[in-house]
Amino acid sequence: MLTKALRGRDFISLMDFNKEELETILDVAMELKREKAMGMLHDDLLRAKTLAMVFANPSTRTRTSFEAAMTELGGHAQFHTPQVMQIAHHETWVDTARVLDRFVDGIVIRMYGLEHYGDARKILRLMADNAQIPIYNALDDKEHPFQIMADIMTMIEKLGPDWRNKKVVMSWAYSERVKSAGVPQTMTIAASLLGMNLTLAYPEKYDVDPDYMAFAKKASEKSGAKINVVHDIYDAAKDADVIYAKSWGSFLMSKEEDKEYRKQFKEDWKIQKKHFDVAHKQAIFMHCLPADRNLEVTDEVIDGPMSVVYDEAENRLHTEKAVLALTMK
Ligand code: CP
Repeated sequence: MLTKALRGRDFISLMDFNKEELETILDVAMELKREKAMGMLHDDLLRAKTLAMVFANPSTRTRTSFEAAMTELGGHAQFHTPQVMQIAHHETWVDTARVLDRFVDGIVIRMYGLEHYGDARKILRLMADNAQIPIYNALDDKEHPFQIMADIMTMIEKLGPDWRNKKVVMSWAYSERVKSAGVPQTMTIAASLLGMNLTLAYPEKYDVDPDYMAFAKKASEKSGAKINVVHDIYDAAKDADVIYAKSWGSFLMSKEEDKEYRKQFKEDWKIQKKHFDVAHKQAIFMHCLPADRNLEVTDEVIDGPMSVVYDEAENRLHTEKAVLALTMK
């Protein structure tokens, strides 16, 4: 385990981290979770520290778990939206970062769906360049790093010591809404760094960002990760240990074109019992939530014995506590 390597670091992209650093975060998250279960408090870890949370998009889990994390760590979290900050009157993100830097000890930002893919990431990086304190990515168009740390923690808990060799299927799923590809892209990076066995299953034209695939290819050569792409979810589900459903948008179409194009996949790309019938007997169902019930996944599966979605959601809290405690100065 590393001790000081993470202090002061931003948490924007998993591509900025190595295997040992990600494993340190997971180890600490496990320890914090175990200690909490035993009634131990962690309120001396970030006592009197303040986290500013800027949410340009809606959130249930991320906002409440970060706020609870700061309470449990002995600090405080403030909730902001750009609409009620002077950003609304065109104050720059640079000035916003420089000023918040004088008041608080870290900034969480959720921002996606600006005019172009990558615009939100530019703002996150700009803020990081203009603040001494850590900037935390709470979902942009490219990645959802905190979600994926919680997902991996859940896999370790549910799949046991051989988790890296278990077949994880990250499946595109139908939704009426065109969503960020942050989850599959971050999972691809995590899998490649940690040496996992990941199958990305999606219909033609839903390829993830080629920069992410290129990074993953290189990282996999070092870690021994296996990353496959298939275009048939029924085939992908065979012998799976994890089926993770997530809808995302295409880079090859406008939102309107995508909404029309995806209609043909409405029935085939809904995770349902037939997929678990061909998966391993003990296979689990994962979803980052919120789920589009009976579109992305049937009620029978998400409410069934194979579903671990609420344990997965809970692990947001423990992994966020770990990252905050390890990075905030
Ligand atoms: N999974 C997730 O990020 O949930 P919220 O959008 O509710 O924060």
